[in-house]
Amino acid sequence: LSPRIHTAFAAETGQEIYYQALQLNSATFETQIRELQSIGYKGVNVTVPFKEQAWKLADKLSPRAQDAKAVNTMIFRDDGKIVGDNTDGIGLTRDLIINHGVLVTHRKVLVLGAGGAVRGILGPLLSRKPDLVVVANRTLHKAERMAEDFFHLGELLTSSFEDLGDEKFDLIINGTSAGLDGEVPPIPERVLGVNSICYDLMYDIDKPTAFVAWAQRRGALRAYDGLGMLVEQAAESFEFWHGRRPETGSVIARLLSA
Ligand code: ATR
Repeated sequence: LSPRIHTAFAAETGQEIYYQALQLNSATFETQIRELQSIGYKGVNVTVPFKEQAWKLADKLSPRAQDAKAVNTMIFRDDGKIVGDNTDGIGLTRDLIINHGVLVTHRKVLVLGAGGAVRGILGPLLSRKPDLVVVANRTLHKAERMAEDFFHLGELLTSSFEDLGDEKFDLIINGTSAGLDGEVPPIPERVLGVNSICYDLMYDIDKPTAFVAWAQRRGALRAYDGLGMLVEQAAESFEFWHGRRPETGSVIARLLSA
């Protein structure tokens, strides 16, 4: 969807751009990136599974990319240096707060997963000062390591899925890749209250994701997938490259109706 999103932004802001989806190869990632740089690309967005390689390759990192240890936006500077940024987290918080009117500040948040996707969102999430953030993961020690890595930004409690207590959460964010197999992390239903809002970092343009369907079946107040986050992170990247902030609402609406 990214070429469609960036092309729509360009039309709206009156710019001519070239944005294309390319399949790179992990063994030759660096050479391919350097090649794009040498033929005049201004930068690239990088998606799974290359975000960590992009982080390693960047000469300079934004603070949020440094925290995330993952880069989804590379800016090729005129002096040949590559700046790495991560716009995933800001994309999530903008979609939650601005598009959906979901409050994070003073709320209790449960984050499922402790992989790259979660790393990308924790900094911006913590900056909104929620009252409680619990990271639950299938492999507990990965959640614990994450809590140590992000300690300077705020406190994260950790848990396995089955040991989640009786706490009900205002916001439950699925950052696991279980949905790729149509699965949902095995969390106890008691964490979901009548006022809980669920958000899946994954999206599916055709049907509800497995997690969104689960949340709807279990009576969550609202459930969203990550399409809005995709558009918002793209807007943030677009602004870096072109100096103009595009309007996102109409692009999200068009993608949903297409
Ligand atoms: P990504 O970059 O997409 O986050 P990742 O770094 O491989 O990918 O992380 C995937 C996350 O989804 C991990 O938290 C993983 O749990 P483990 O750390 O225990 O591997 C989680 N995950 C993947 N499949 C899952 C499943 N079927 N049930 C629950 N969690 C799952």
